[in-house]
Amino acid sequence: MTTGLDGIIAAETVLSHVDGAAGELVLRGLPVERAAQTLDFEGITALLWQGFHPLGGRPDALRDAIGRARVAVAAHLPALLPATAGLSDVEALRLMLSSLPDGDAAADAVRVVAAVPVFIAARVRHVQGLAPIAPDAGAGHAADFLRMMTGHAADPALARALDTYLVTVSDHGLNASTFAARIVASTRAGMVSSVVAGLCALKGPLHGGAPGPVLDMLDAIGSADAAPAWIAGELTAGRRLMGFGHRIYRVRDPRAEVLKVAVRPLRSPRIDLAEQVEHAALSALAAHRPDRPLETNVEFYTALLLDAVGLHRDLFTPIFAMGRVAGWSAHVMEQEATGRLMRPASRYVGPVAA
Ligand code: ACO
Repeated sequence: MTTGLDGIIAAETVLSHVDGAAGELVLRGLPVERAAQTLDFEGITALLWQGFHPLGGRPDALRDAIGRARVAVAAHLPALLPATAGLSDVEALRLMLSSLPDGDAAADAVRVVAAVPVFIAARVRHVQGLAPIAPDAGAGHAADFLRMMTGHAADPALARALDTYLVTVSDHGLNASTFAARIVASTRAGMVSSVVAGLCALKGPLHGGAPGPVLDMLDAIGSADAAPAWIAGELTAGRRLMGFGHRIYRVRDPRAEVLKVAVRPLRSPRIDLAEQVEHAALSALAAHRPDRPLETNVEFYTALLLDAVGLHRDLFTPIFAMGRVAGWSAHVMEQEATGRLMRPASRYVGPVAA
């Protein structure tokens, strides 16, 4: 018996479709390649929320509402930041998000989407002994995040690259974190509780925790010449190569290519090494597991792109959440509108009663 729920249909959704054999991802009818080229974070959120939220399908109105909510949520920072002492960045985000109350789902959806970059940026500054920078309600979500974190206006090319990333990871079928969010939503626990459940699932290294270790891997390899031996050592030791393999895709994850294209203009100093490591890893994985196609997943070029945007590797999972919260919140609203309590069954294999 498989315990990974492979192939089980647990929900119907209009939000996104993953075709693992063809290597295609469609977000509400838009191929991810087109969505990433044409939309920013607020645009994809408005698209995902269409039919579920009063501001769905209205990107300009949603942009205003998210901007105002960034400003409002910043009022919580003085009380929250000291409580994050000793936590990792993703744990700090988990703590701060869970401080928000569950109430009206529509208002909470805007607040929780707005809160993620405000909390991440303020926490980055807090650990450096710096005060938070107030949100700018009129700025774009991605650009305002970079400004709140660094203290200076974001380079438009970096803000655009970050927007591309946020759109690319905004939704992806019933992945583990979205499933977690939908289970909690199915109990009617509320938007914030459901999103926090999503974040908890995202944190794991088999899901959204992989991109930081991708950069660690590139650092450990150091040069293209060293890649084959390093990779062979990992596989022989039974360890997994981060940024490769996927439950659904049997070909290259289409998001990997979107992000590889987006990272090119940023002139990452690591790009040549990354391409050579990718090549060596794919050859080694094909030889190691000829029965199991293991291709590049989204996390490999996520690491390159977020690094080139100037973000520290410890922030990669929180920034994944900054994009995926668009999808989580949409799934929560869809679950509440269309779903029933999720309550699967287990097969008892323990001792029988005496
Ligand atoms: N490196 C080496 N071997 C691998 C890898 C990898 N990256 N991925 C899978 N395998 C091997 C497994 O060890 C397993 O071997 P076994 O049958 O001898 O135990 C076999 O391939 C099948 O793997 P499964 O665990 O059945 O595949 P599953 O669908 O459960 O795993 C997963 C998918 C978790 C993504 C896996 O490929 C992995 O761990 N990758 C590395 C971590 C990673 O990049 N995570 C990010 C995924 S993308 C995302 O979540 C946004």
